[in-house]
Amino acid sequence: MTMISHDVVIVGAGLTGMRAAIEMGPGVDVAVISKVHPVRSHSGAAQGGINAALREEDSWESHAYDTVKGSDYLGDQDAIEIMCREAPSDIRQMEHWGVIFSRADDRRIAQRPFGGAGYPRTCYAADRTGHALLHAMYEQVMKRRVKVYTEWFLTSLIVENGECQGVTVLDMASGELVAVRAKAVVFATGGYGRVYLTSSNGLVNTGDGMAVAYRAGAPLMDMEFVQFHPTTLKSNGVLITEGSRGEGGILINAKGERFMSKYAPNAMELASRDVVSRSEQTEINEGRGVDGCVLLDLRHLGRDKILERLPQIRDLAIKFAGTDPIEVPIPVRPGAHYSMGGIKVDVDGATPMPGLFAGGECACVSVHGANRLGGNSLLETIVFGRRAGTAVNRYITGRAMPIPGDHHLAAQRDRIHTLMSRSGGERGNLLRHELGTVMNTDVGVFRDEKGLMEAVAKAREINDRAQSLWVMDKSRVFNTDLTEALEMQNVAELAQTIAAGALARKECRGAHYRNDHPGRDDANWMKHTLARWTPDGPELSYSAVTVTKYQPQERKY
Ligand code: FUM
Repeated sequence: MTMISHDVVIVGAGLTGMRAAIEMGPGVDVAVISKVHPVRSHSGAAQGGINAALREEDSWESHAYDTVKGSDYLGDQDAIEIMCREAPSDIRQMEHWGVIFSRADDRRIAQRPFGGAGYPRTCYAADRTGHALLHAMYEQVMKRRVKVYTEWFLTSLIVENGECQGVTVLDMASGELVAVRAKAVVFATGGYGRVYLTSSNGLVNTGDGMAVAYRAGAPLMDMEFVQFHPTTLKSNGVLITEGSRGEGGILINAKGERFMSKYAPNAMELASRDVVSRSEQTEINEGRGVDGCVLLDLRHLGRDKILERLPQIRDLAIKFAGTDPIEVPIPVRPGAHYSMGGIKVDVDGATPMPGLFAGGECACVSVHGANRLGGNSLLETIVFGRRAGTAVNRYITGRAMPIPGDHHLAAQRDRIHTLMSRSGGERGNLLRHELGTVMNTDVGVFRDEKGLMEAVAKAREINDRAQSLWVMDKSRVFNTDLTEALEMQNVAELAQTIAAGALARKECRGAHYRNDHPGRDDANWMKHTLARWTPDGPELSYSAVTVTKYQPQERKY
């Protein structure tokens, strides 16, 4: 059995993970572990932009206010203030590192309007912003010669006496299990969008870090808050950026009506995502949809603007919907997109477990509360990736390398041996389909007690069945049948926390909408949900929201 050591191990090579790695001080031996090559990380799929108050007419305080309001007052305002105040310098840093942001006529960084924002503050690189940021970040990682282990799959945390001392991983190329001991571990493993059947997320987004941290005793926070992006393609859930609406695209129903005037008469298509998604779903449910979708009309933007600002969107629509948006509206519908919840962390990425830090979508700090504003997720990765890096430097100073026992790796070896030695049973792909269908149906844009009770029971049952999957491929090298079984166990674990949190929360707040409990209930529910792992399923408790200066108000767009 193999054990290797690094001062710091970062799991996940997207923007958060790489930004944290870059922040390590001289002499710190840091390694990044990722199940895909860094530039294939899901950060690269972000399209429309990254928020920062750069212009004189804008301010970080306005950005913070919009974010608090967007969060439906569940976001922690101290964390939101930090993010919005530190955003401009992080954007300039990224530009100096070579990100080719689109430019305005005055040659400054161009900024487009985005949903829920009182000012156009979303910086962008056409409609490939995440891609541009990710490649620039990877250059910085390569420049610093950071050790990156690609195609290493996270299997568990090494925890002794309540302290995180490393991780166990499966080297997919060799099939070998490896223990990596470290003075500190940072999880930057992204979201869990693939818990749902249809999602804008890449196939890699199975919430591995969240599930592993949860099983090891770290609490998950606000898991019931799942963002459904208003514009995803019907065929495969691929994202059609909010930037399309930022550039002036409109939503119409089967009657050709611009229906957002009924739901958000001021902000229209640029209301917050939860509001737009519910409006679309209402149109569809009430029979004014087009084949289960509504239409995103970009034709009036004209060919030149579409080719300059939204070239990828045009390609995606042609390839996956068979429609050229220069000529024809794109059929779109709400799709699972982002996890507002995640591993509970403080503003420096520290989890309640000493030695374990987390950032980005796998974490909940909480800057998004009950609903994230578009353009704030890329921002979160960079601000809180950097801050986690700084905090980890402090944490490891003067700390000795831990010496964990062999039993952590032995337990994972037994787990994998059990999966591999089974000669019959359920197949992971079919079980994934079953779970995703339940989540789509019962834990979607609109929720109610009956559906959620079914989802809780079903997620529990599927989690039990996921423990005895049949891995047909018995080979060691790149055994994706095996890693998909491990991913199935992760999504099943997380589905239980999402459904349980949603069943318990008897109010409507942000993306969590209960048909049977209309309205936001600040008196009883202005609090974070914490989910802790037990053998009988998630145990829920609650914690206070941090309010600095923005008192809860009715949210109108
Ligand atoms: O619509 C988009 O381009 C997505 C942006 C985001 O999720 O922040």
